[in-house]
Formats: sequence, structure tokens, C-alpha cells
Amino acid sequence: MDNKILIKDLCNLAQLDIDAIRAYAQALDNIDHATIHTQISSFKADHDRHVNDLSAVIRRLGGEPPDFSPDLKGFFIEGFTAIRSMTGTEGALKAMRSNEKLTNRTYEKALGWEMPADIRAIVDKNFADEKRHLAYIEQAIETKAWEKTSV
Ligand SMILES: [Fe+2]
Ligand SMILES: [Fe+2]
Repeated sequence: MDNKILIKDLCNLAQLDIDAIRAYAQALDNIDHATIHTQISSFKADHDRHVNDLSAVIRRLGGEPPDFSPDLKGFFIEGFTAIRSMTGTEGALKAMRSNEKLTNRTYEKALGWEMPADIRAIVDKNFADEKRHLAYIEQAIETKAWEKTSV
């Protein structure tokens, strides 16, 4: 197993989670619905944990985890969120749906990587969070959750 390839792949994954955190921060500024805000905040916290867990693994393999700064992909995510967020909670949720589709696709691909079982367990756990994020956001959009006082 080539650690260099795995380190690079894990760094890309951590960078995507960093970008997601930035996008979530921006979306939260536009969400005035209390229950949805709480829910989305907890998803942002999940992404914080993903970055911390992935960074620890990258260091353990002898690599250097990415800085907490957006790369070009991050700019794309942030820009996209900014545009959609202009219509409040609904726009923010729709922007985050696009972002979560991207994180879900990326984590799904990561399952195909060759990696030790303990690292796979972390990727699996993160992917389970991503699926839960996307499912909640899709359901919230479907039911127009922002029109209700509690969700
Ligand atoms: Fe994540
Ligand atoms: Fe997510």
C-alpha cells in the first residue's frame, strides 16, 4: 500500500470538509428558522469532527493535513452558496443540498480506496454523517420546513 497516494487522497477529502464548513458558516447566516438553524449547526460540527479525525490520520501516516483555508473548489462552493443564500432559509438549504451532494459523491468514491481497516472505519463513519445531512436537507426542502414553526 502506497502511503503517499493515501495521504494525498485523505488531504483532498479533508479539504472538501474544510470547504463544507465555510459553506455551512455562510448558509447559517441566512437561516432564520430556529430549528433548522440548530440542525444545520450540528451538521457543521460534524464536518469539524471530520476534519479533525482525517487530520489526525494524515499526521499519523506522516503527512501534513491541509490548512484551514479554502482552495479553488472551496471558492466555487462558497460562491455558489452566496448566490443561493440570498433567498433566506430556502435558498441556503438548496445551496447546501448541492454541497452535500458533492460531499456524498466524494465520500462514496473514497470507499473504493485501498486503506487500513481503522482508516476505512473513519471514512465510513463520516460518509454515514454525509448521508444523514443530505437526507435531512432533502426532506426539509420537500416539506418546505421553513414555513412551519417547528420541524
Ligand atoms: Fe464532512
Ligand atoms: Fe455534510
